[in-house]
Amino acid sequence: MRPFSYPFPLAAAFLVLILAAASPLHRSHLMAIDGPLSSISGWNPLRLLQRQTDVPWQEKRQTVNCTDESAAFNSVCWQQLQLSNFLLGGGEWGVGWNKSTRVCDTQSTDVNDNDGTNCCLPGEAWTTCFLRLAQGGGTQDCSQINAQFCSMPSENALSAGLAESIRPEVQYIQKNIYALNDFFTTYYNALTAAQSDASTTIQGLINEVDPIKPTSFDLITLLTALSVGLAFLGAPSIAVTVLGLSSIAKSAAQVLTISLQQAPSTAKALWPTGTQNSQSVQIGDLEAELGNSTNQLADMINNAVQLLMSDMPTFVKFVESGQYSGAESLSLPSKVQGLDYALRTYMTSEAFAQNGWVSTPSIGPYETAQDVENGVIGGGGGDCTMGNNSVCTDGQGSAIFWSQPTGRVYNFANTKSGWGGVSAYQLLQDTVGNNWAILQVLFDGSFNCTQEGNFGDSIVNFNWDGTLDIACISQLPTKVDCGDPCPVALINNECPFPPLNNDCDS
Ligand SMILES: *[C@@H]1O[C@H](CO)[C@@H](O)[C@H](O)[C@H]1NC(C)=O
Ligand SMILES: *[C@@H]1O[C@H](CO)[C@@H](O)[C@H](O)[C@H]1NC(C)=O
Ligand SMILES: *[C@@H]1O[C@H](CO)[C@@H](O)[C@H](O)[C@H]1NC(C)=O
Ligand SMILES: *[C@@H]1O[C@H](CO)[C@@H](O)[C@H](O)[C@H]1NC(C)=O
Ligand SMILES: *[C@@H]1O[C@H](CO)[C@@H](O)[C@H](O)[C@H]1NC(C)=O
Repeated sequence: MRPFSYPFPLAAAFLVLILAAASPLHRSHLMAIDGPLSSISGWNPLRLLQRQTDVPWQEKRQTVNCTDESAAFNSVCWQQLQLSNFLLGGGEWGVGWNKSTRVCDTQSTDVNDNDGTNCCLPGEAWTTCFLRLAQGGGTQDCSQINAQFCSMPSENALSAGLAESIRPEVQYIQKNIYALNDFFTTYYNALTAAQSDASTTIQGLINEVDPIKPTSFDLITLLTALSVGLAFLGAPSIAVTVLGLSSIAKSAAQVLTISLQQAPSTAKALWPTGTQNSQSVQIGDLEAELGNSTNQLADMINNAVQLLMSDMPTFVKFVESGQYSGAESLSLPSKVQGLDYALRTYMTSEAFAQNGWVSTPSIGPYETAQDVENGVIGGGGGDCTMGNNSVCTDGQGSAIFWSQPTGRVYNFANTKSGWGGVSAYQLLQDTVGNNWAILQVLFDGSFNCTQEGNFGDSIVNFNWDGTLDIACISQLPTKVDCGDPCPVALINNECPFPPLNNDCDS
């Protein structure tokens, strides 16, 4: 189901860099302080202007001048300046920066060849090297969030020795490096704030479903559910529009989603799949433990940032949509409403699961509320009258939830013998009313996750095309009634949905 393992061992990537850059054939470098314009293979400053006929953003063509260093940044410029080619090679940029930049020979006695003034140090993140060569010295290192030396210098702080012809390109790439670091840094800061909100909110849920509080959580899974926050909001199965998000959260979620789709190895660095040994967190300690785990959270984010800053193809894929090249900042405010929806949904589903709540699907499809009312017999004897939040009002022991987008209906019931707590209907109403979880994700997510055979594994998965699959954020068990046919295709001759009772055969 999840064919991916992280495909770019960093050591191998560096080896490629060293081998490529050390090749005597590739000595013309795009950021040479001393290199004349003509050393850039195929470079012709006029061609940029001639090429504009195949650029799609017609009406902006008059107003955007990507080579004008004093003009505002614009998101069309990554593509117009062909910055992917500038870095990786191709088109009129010849071999590109990654091959034309030399790796220093630290054994050399020639100071120009060994101290990093004109070359990249062995093993150095390419972005660190790029910024030094762009600025003609100094130390900038953006490969960590909250980095000490990663602040965009004041305007046009480019090396005086840089060839005129490549200044706009260098300026844009430099801008992208800072923008990415800033995005992840502010994302991390917003996540640490969101985490305490989620802990507080979820106390009410625990009090309702779980008065004696035995629920416990796996710490790594909690941190995964927390850090997936923005990507969760941007996932196609989440209707961002219904969540009342701020416009910055919406655009940041969309930008991040596109980027992760283009550069899936970044997502894999952030959210490693597979089982890991992790601490178990008791519900009573939730807030303290999450607050205590900010270093672990930072490590997760840093895995992604380090990959981007040291692996050029990944960086290029991540930014080439142009979204980090625009004038609009993607800095997140310290509080982003909704950032903890994934975490809440995971915790709610887990608390439900640990307290005997189970969902049983009927796949219909049910297209209208009328279909549901006509088609289902409410569990516990009551029929269905569609009520608030697409939950039938008449269920007795159980509640019926209708997911409009998938046309499925789920019976939600407690399987603990002698359960005398909150009713299923009330629990679902309170879940929506208190923003504990999104019902669609709770039910459809668990169904999808089980159908895909992923239930019980990582809560974040990847589709075959590298896109993010957030279905398993819901760990509410979905089971089928004894004797009912399997609602989906069998996996290895078995229904992926377990039976509601363990002793169906008897
Ligand atoms: C874009 O700006 C550059 C630098 O200011 C200038 O040389 C060039 O003529 C401008 N191009 C257009 C099409 O205005
Ligand atoms: C579940 O899968 C259906 C398609 O089968 C999709 O429309 C829906 O958005 C998915 N929901 C979640 C939460 O994964
Ligand atoms: C926080 O972490 C420290 C060091 O790992 C540990 O000693 C302490 O017990 C933790 N506190 C909580 C509330 O978990
Ligand atoms: C240089 O670019 C090529 C693609 O053109 C890529 O395969 C290689 O990994 C890059 N090297 C580094 C170190 O980024
Ligand atoms: C549905 O919601 C409305 C307002 O939100 C409330 O007044 C009404 O009592 C709710 N109905 C049921 C059956 O819970």
